[in-house]
Order: sequence, then C-alpha cells, then structure tokens
Amino acid sequence: MAKITASVFTSHVPAIGAALDLGKTQEDYWKPLFAGYDFSKQWMKDNKPDVIFLVYNDHATAFSLEMIPTFAIGTAAQFQPADEGWGPRPVPVVQGHPDLAAHIAQSVIQQDFDLTIVNKMDVDHGLTVPLSLMCGEQDPKTGAWPCPVIPFAVNVVQYPVPSGRRCYNLGQAIRKAVESYDEDLNVHIWGTGGMSHQLQGPRAGLINKEFDNAFLDELISDPEAAASIPHIDYVREAGSEGIELVMWLIARGAMADVAGGKPPKVAHRFYHVPASNTAVGHLILENT
Ligand code: DHB
Ligand code: FE
Repeated sequence: MAKITASVFTSHVPAIGAALDLGKTQEDYWKPLFAGYDFSKQWMKDNKPDVIFLVYNDHATAFSLEMIPTFAIGTAAQFQPADEGWGPRPVPVVQGHPDLAAHIAQSVIQQDFDLTIVNKMDVDHGLTVPLSLMCGEQDPKTGAWPCPVIPFAVNVVQYPVPSGRRCYNLGQAIRKAVESYDEDLNVHIWGTGGMSHQLQGPRAGLINKEFDNAFLDELISDPEAAASIPHIDYVREAGSEGIELVMWLIARGAMADVAGGKPPKVAHRFYHVPASNTAVGHLILENT
C-alpha cells in the first residue's frame, strides 16, 4: 500500500528561482531566506520520498483565460520547466508518475471531485521553485530531481476559485486514493504558494505577519478552523494573492489526524519577510 508520510508547505516566489539561477543566494537580501531551507534540504535527504504529490498553481503559463480548470492532475511521464518570459529555468525536467497519477484521478473522481486530466503541460515557478528550495540546485542536464512528481494545479488566479473547505476535503480524498494504490510507495504531499502578498492595485506590497503566523498555528493544530476561513478573509487579511493559501489545505487534509489518526509532528517551521513582494512561510509536518 502507498502511504502519505509527510506534508511540506512553502511559498513559491519566482524571484527565489531567479536568485538561485543567477547565483545570488549568499547576497545579504537572500541569505536569511535560503538559510531557512538548510534544514529542509537535509530532511529531504533523510526522508527521501518515492513520489511527491505537488499542489501548486499555474500562473497563466500552461493555462490562460481561454481555459481554467479548477483542479488539474498531471498524468504525463514528463513535464518541461516553462518559459515564463525569460526562458525556461535551468532545472531538470520533472519526471511524472503516470501510474499513480492515473490511479489517483480514478479514485478522486469516483469520490466526486471533478479533476481535469492533463497529459501535456509545462510547469512554472509554482512547482519548480519549491523543488529547488527543498532539493537544492540540480544541473539541468546531468542532474535530476530526487523522485517522480505528480503536479496538481489549482485555479487560484481567476475567480471563482475553490473554497478552503473544498480543498481540505479534497486532501482527504487524495489520501484515500493514495492508500488504495497497491505498490508500497512513500508519498509526500506538498502545498505551495502564499503567504500574504498582493501584487497589484493600491494595496500592492501588503504583508500581514499576524495573519500568517495565526494561519500557521491553525494549520498545525486546528486545521478544521483553517478550512473554515472564507475567501474574503484571505483577500482582506493576506492580500489578493494570499488566496494561494487554500492550496496548503489540500496537503493538510491529506494528513493522518484528519482521518482520525495522531496529530502530525512539526519537523520544521520558518517564516521570513520579505522575498520579493511576499511573506515566505514554510512548514514540514510528519505523520507519527
Ligand atoms: C510573487 C509571488 C508569487 O507567489 C507569484 O506567483 C508571483 C510573484 C512575488 O512576490 O513577486
Ligand atoms: Fe504564486
């Protein structure tokens, strides 16, 4: 049986990818941010998953206003790093896990969540920046990510976006799906995006440390309460792009305690302001 053993939560700011790719990680501005992921890179080595189920959002890269799937699962064998305007990031191609992805699609759709199945898709900073932060830099040609990745894209760009509650419930369905897969696989589920940020309009640059830290507390010990936060509160408190945080609830909903198991162990917690326009939050939770 496959099992979800841990969840990882992290912001996915594109400028973090640029700082890595341009060799700026030791500059004063970036150093404290990257230091917050030293633990995480070692943790990834010590707790190497067989597959990462990576929840992120596409930023009008693979999708656009022409087509807006609410939830899209990547079932391909490979996903190319996207060109977001400055050429693709110099990172390895992302290897998928078509068998497990197809199984999860089958199970989750039968549990009444309508997923879009995507057999061809480039992946943008929402997916590759978390991989770089957690796995360290890899040579784009000779290197490789540590394991296959199933991309799971959520629409948080164009309203209407899914509620936190629906995301949380979907996480529980994903857990059931993973646990009904025959092969013994160690699966990690990641939730990316957030924390507070607003990229446009009069409130551009908004950061809310109090909201972010209360969200981290609640996500750890009272995920039901976090799942009840309405859209308007994210927008008001965490800025228009703070709505990306609903994706963290998918990963949290997939943890054992939500299905009646023991509360997760907090392996790592980190918060840093600023990175570009965003407050960076990061958590690693382990099922005990
Ligand atoms: C920024 C953050 C994001 O999450 C994103 O998708 C794009 C930009 C930023 O802080 O600049
Ligand atoms: Fe984003």
